[in-house]
Amino acid sequence: MLVKVDPLKPVEDILRKVADLIKEGGVVAFPTETVYGLGADCFNISAVLKIFQIKRRPADNPLIVHIYDIKQLQDLIDQDYEKACAIMDVFWPGPVTLIFRKKSYVPKEVTGGLETVAVRMPSHPVAQKFLRLSGTPIAAPSANLSGKPSPTRAEHVIEDLYGLVDAIIDGGETPLGIESTIIDFSRERPILLRPGPATIEEIQKVIQNLEIPEFLLKKTNEPTRPLSPGMSYRHYAPEKPLILVIDYNKLDEVLLRYPDAPVICAQELVSKFYGRRTVVLGTLREPFTIAQNLFHVLRTVDSITASAAIVVGFESKGILFSVMNRLRKAASEIVE
Ligand code: TXA
Ligand code: MG
Repeated sequence: MLVKVDPLKPVEDILRKVADLIKEGGVVAFPTETVYGLGADCFNISAVLKIFQIKRRPADNPLIVHIYDIKQLQDLIDQDYEKACAIMDVFWPGPVTLIFRKKSYVPKEVTGGLETVAVRMPSHPVAQKFLRLSGTPIAAPSANLSGKPSPTRAEHVIEDLYGLVDAIIDGGETPLGIESTIIDFSRERPILLRPGPATIEEIQKVIQNLEIPEFLLKKTNEPTRPLSPGMSYRHYAPEKPLILVIDYNKLDEVLLRYPDAPVICAQELVSKFYGRRTVVLGTLREPFTIAQNLFHVLRTVDSITASAAIVVGFESKGILFSVMNRLRKAASEIVE
């Protein structure tokens, strides 16, 4: 089933039909404010296993459980969440996922065998209504095939999963464009596991003791010891080589090396690549536009006839810190 809804005012009767599929153990793709998710009833193990099978996702990579009401948190977590209250007050509903110790009956299939569970309360009107009508917390990773960029449009979901899922809810383009910020509250000190649309600067205004792991700050691609199972996998990668240039002084050398490669960059830089094919990501004046377009552009790289693509990096701050995190994972070579 493919249904189209108004992202701001989705018709309840349409969403109810899709929510009924969740109650019957089905798997449904739905829009959130970050990216599209591929959801199933988190307490229905066979439905959850279908998600892994459809996405070809390794079984040890846990899913995020989505809720619409804070009351649902009690059914999932087995810890005092006082330390996280300030973050919830500011960012929920919204693009922040929080990790807590799980209740014993939360299936280990959802959590990749871990004793913790990731929970998120999305703010997208379609996700909110869909979650409410489904009446159960919904386990959902991003609705892409494993390794591909997360879907920010229903067309991306169709490209990857059409015919494999019970329904796709088309709610248009997702406004934020990159996956939620993840903070682990299951330990003594809160730690950032994935940078996202809620920026480090914004989070630090709310909690002072946020730990930022070395690997997110260092110039490495991956942590030596993964804190989150998803970190060990290469992501978002186009089939053809993608060269991420961070040191602008080395740009000319890369351009010479790949004479036919298009350059992906901010609007402000386009004029520097006269005579070359360019793909605009967004404008530095409104860096959120860069996050918004990122995954769509990464998906188009493979359809361009060229041997490789070059992407010009950004200064890692605010939302562009999160964008650079995704670009590092997508790149086959980083020039810095
Ligand atoms: O914005 C989002 O977060 C989207 C939308 C659909 O909500 N979801 C999403 O899910 O990006 P996914 O599965 O693509 O990414 C979830 C990440 C993975 O890297 C996974 O390893 C990590 O969250 N994760 C989930 N549960 C975890 C846990 N208990 N401990 C550590 N990491 C966890
Ligand atoms: Mg994903």
